[in-house]
Amino acid sequence: MKALCVVRLLLAFAAVCVPYLAAASPKRGVEYFTNLEVVTQDGETVRFYDDLIKDKVVVVSFIFTSCTDMCPINTARMTQVADVLGDALGKNVFFVSISVDPENDTPEKMRAFADAFYNGPGWTFVTGSPENLKTISYQLGNREEKRSDHINEIILGNDRTGEWARNTPFNEPERLATIIQEMDPEWRMETVIPPDQFLTLDDLRRYQVSADPGQVLFRKLCSGCHTVGVGDRVGPDLLGISERRDEEWIKRYIRDPAAVRQSNDLAAIELGLRYGGVRMPNLGLSENDATDLITYLNGQADNIARARAEAVAQQDHHAPVQPGNQNDTSDAAGQPHH
Ligand code: HEC
Repeated sequence: MKALCVVRLLLAFAAVCVPYLAAASPKRGVEYFTNLEVVTQDGETVRFYDDLIKDKVVVVSFIFTSCTDMCPINTARMTQVADVLGDALGKNVFFVSISVDPENDTPEKMRAFADAFYNGPGWTFVTGSPENLKTISYQLGNREEKRSDHINEIILGNDRTGEWARNTPFNEPERLATIIQEMDPEWRMETVIPPDQFLTLDDLRRYQVSADPGQVLFRKLCSGCHTVGVGDRVGPDLLGISERRDEEWIKRYIRDPAAVRQSNDLAAIELGLRYGGVRMPNLGLSENDATDLITYLNGQADNIARARAEAVAQQDHHAPVQPGNQNDTSDAAGQPHH
């Protein structure tokens, strides 16, 4: 059920990316957003408008820390935007993620959730009294009563110009960074980012004939939390995953991590202990999607192994000839035997 919901959600909001919080409306100030008190992930009490919105360019999202589907994915996507924005986050633009479950989301839980994704300035995770958060969320466009129905769009705003818009975290991170940048006429980033293609799930399906489908899926759904050969992020680095794990296991895990966890699978339990902050969400992927992803991950592992072998070969080539080099035991790929 959940899985289907996710796919439906993806389809629904990938299609709408039109600024429809009325771009040129009169400035929405403290009367609109209110100065109700909220509590940050550091346990600090702040006033919503004056401390988080006033005079800033902001990106607002809605989350709850026990969410197992969209919120971690959205937050991971925002982390990718944060990567593109670099130093500008905390200087030119500020992220605000608001809990839709303040009854359960203590500042400590918000802190743990935040830490799993990002450690740096400019991103406030907000909880507080349920009444205050409800009012604030309502004004920002989240009018759902149930926490699981909360909107999955992000709200972009420039308080100085009064420009507000909605967008989807599934927009390409580079594209989103550009859109955010463009909200501020005074702000020019040093490097101009070429507007990347905007991908919808329909595009994804079309891509399957033209591009490596596993790569497209990976970039869109996994890369906020996983890298291949760069190191652990929210989840483990996936380089060489097929050597560590059985492919059937990987497939099952990619398709329904919660089910594997609940089956008392030792590997899953161990992973759960190691990556405490956030659980891998259920992404609603098909058997074919999982196969494509594994093919992509294996291809990446091969590419990296080849690149490393070439680098080693290059080094050997440039190294001064050592006495006894004719007994060199390197194999054809340049990898020394041990
Ligand atoms: C919101 C973050 C998030 C997203 C998005 C995500 N994962 Fe994960 N993934 C995790 C975490 C955290 C773990 C560690 C175990 C756990 O908590 O489930 C994990 C574990 C895994 C594992 C097991 C790794 C191992 O060392 O055994 C695989 C395989 C995996 N993820 C693949 C994927 C793929 C493929 C995608 C995209 C389709 C994806 N994940 C999307 C967070 C994420």
